[in-house]
Amino acid sequence: MSSENITSVAREGRKFNASRDFQAQANIGSIGAYRRLYSESVNNPEKFWAKQAAELLLWRKKWRKVLQWKAPFAKWFVGGRLNVAENCLDRHLGTARENKAAIIFEGEPGDQRTLTYKQLHHEVCKFANVLESLGLKQGDRVAIYMPMTPEAAIAMLACARIGAIHTVIFGGFSSEAIKDRVNDCQASLVITADGGWRRGKVVDLKANVDRALDGTPSVKHVVVLQRTNTHVTMKEGRDHWWHDVMATASHRHEAKAFDSETPLFILYTSGSTGKPKGVLHTSGGYLLGTTITSKYVFDLKESDTYWCTADVGWITGHSYVVYGILANGATTLMYEGAPNHPEPDRFWSIIDRHKVTIFYTAPTAIRAFMRWGDHYPAKHDMSSLRLLGSVGEPINPEAWKWYHKVIGGGRCPIVDTWWQTETGAIMISPLPAAIPQKPGSATLPFFGVVPKVFDDQGREVPKNSGGKLVITRPWPSMLRTLWGDDERFKRQYWSEYEGGIYFTGDGCRRDEDGYFWIVGRIDDVLNVSGHRIGTAEVESALVSHPTVAEAAAVGRPDELKGQALVVFVTLKNGVSATDELKEALRAHVAKEIGSLARPDNVRFAAALPKTRSGKIMRRLLKEIAAGGAVKGDTTTLEDFSVVASLQKEE
Ligand code: WTA
Repeated sequence: MSSENITSVAREGRKFNASRDFQAQANIGSIGAYRRLYSESVNNPEKFWAKQAAELLLWRKKWRKVLQWKAPFAKWFVGGRLNVAENCLDRHLGTARENKAAIIFEGEPGDQRTLTYKQLHHEVCKFANVLESLGLKQGDRVAIYMPMTPEAAIAMLACARIGAIHTVIFGGFSSEAIKDRVNDCQASLVITADGGWRRGKVVDLKANVDRALDGTPSVKHVVVLQRTNTHVTMKEGRDHWWHDVMATASHRHEAKAFDSETPLFILYTSGSTGKPKGVLHTSGGYLLGTTITSKYVFDLKESDTYWCTADVGWITGHSYVVYGILANGATTLMYEGAPNHPEPDRFWSIIDRHKVTIFYTAPTAIRAFMRWGDHYPAKHDMSSLRLLGSVGEPINPEAWKWYHKVIGGGRCPIVDTWWQTETGAIMISPLPAAIPQKPGSATLPFFGVVPKVFDDQGREVPKNSGGKLVITRPWPSMLRTLWGDDERFKRQYWSEYEGGIYFTGDGCRRDEDGYFWIVGRIDDVLNVSGHRIGTAEVESALVSHPTVAEAAAVGRPDELKGQALVVFVTLKNGVSATDELKEALRAHVAKEIGSLARPDNVRFAAALPKTRSGKIMRRLLKEIAAGGAVKGDTTTLEDFSVVASLQKEE
């Protein structure tokens, strides 16, 4: 992008416009076109969504009513019937897409595979037959704990095809976390692999599953993909090798049409209380939301090779590795392993070798790349790239500019996409050719999305003041409830304000152009390396250790991870505070939740700062963790000497 495209110098810094060439080829090429469609989408939402649903998806039966909204419960495309897998696969067969790559896969050891739409369809049909032969029916729950291989996508799509509900569990989670999730949704089948590759080592997925399944009576069968050829124990009658069951399965499978509101998946995510929340997404609305955003935010074209680096264990992997991308008939690249294996240039080498055109990753990764040095990207030809994306946390303007210049060659627009597991699809983001980008801002809302920034009383705050980000209208890909817990669903998202206002949990401000600047979580959820971690989950893991009396987890700003996890621990009487114990506690949290939640710093405290009513004052702990002085109001503090002694330590 040349300097002629920089349109203004605002207080927040420069504005970046897409080049004329990019604009000329874009699906939505001007701010005028965006504004026109946006107005339509909010002035007459049902008409807008009906038109998009008819255009972008294949329905077996048309809906009677676009939206039924009994806040906070929504039904979209009421009475409509479709099959999500058919939308992602079958409808591309018999067209020019059928022999096009659906998935390009690269394993960490360097193995490569391409599955065309026809081949992927074939595999998904076979696996759908396998699922049915194992007794799976519509509505049954299936846990998927797999490496980033095509089989993970095949498993998801096969579930969708038969109307079973998948819950993908990120491969970095521990056996305890698997057990909790499987028990919460009562999964009857687990799909896993012997192992997966990560930084040259095998992650023992099957062994983790085995440990979890000691306490999960609902599980009847386990299907195991052979990936790493590591030794695993197979339990007779329960465990089946993927290749064995697939060997005899037919590749003919008729896709039944399901009601638009048929549950598609449950995805567990951290909340501000201990137990992870099972976010439930359904079929028609979710698929429409992910399909339309893929098309317009990523400006998808037939000729693109699109790569999103997220694992399928996260919502980004669901919406923008699998469903939204395949529904558009595009080519999605999956990479199994770490960005720095065998060298820190692995991503750039993949972009170069596969001629990736669209690249979507997280700010925490971008900051790591910056630190590793410009000479790694410089080794590769990345001129195939035409668009970049960012997701998971606010991207700091420095990282944005580096990404733009060093990875995008100054030529690629950047879509900074704000959304959540709960929203299912991108909510606030530039459309790359239409909305000028300001580094650090997710810019403007997508079609049909009406976000506002509220104060505590539910009034919109003035321009450039901070407040709470809310969404004031239902949208097709919204979560429908929390699995088995409507009350928690209401309390968590709809009780902050009255009248069907969705509370995101994020703090935000809007600038004079109406641009949204997300400042991060305001509840007790941390964003560590783009992963949501509930402080309560970490605390309950800590107090489950026999030496711990009380614990508080807080975030500290971290250059690389966004936030680092600091825990304050008071020990039981008579336990001595040693460095070994610190290590043991870090390992304990990793075992209970997964290594992504391993505390960066453990600090022992004689006591934790509390209010007179006994609530831990996390605000003070945050200030202490950040190494600063304790500012702000301490009048509710029960005993100031606690703070003084905490500051003295370390
Ligand atoms: C944060 C990930 C700023 C935010 C898709 C949100 C972001 C949480 C952005 C959801 C962004 C995500 N700018 N913050 N572009 N994208 N977030 O459920 O705090 O894993 O609430 O979904 O990540 O995380 P989740």
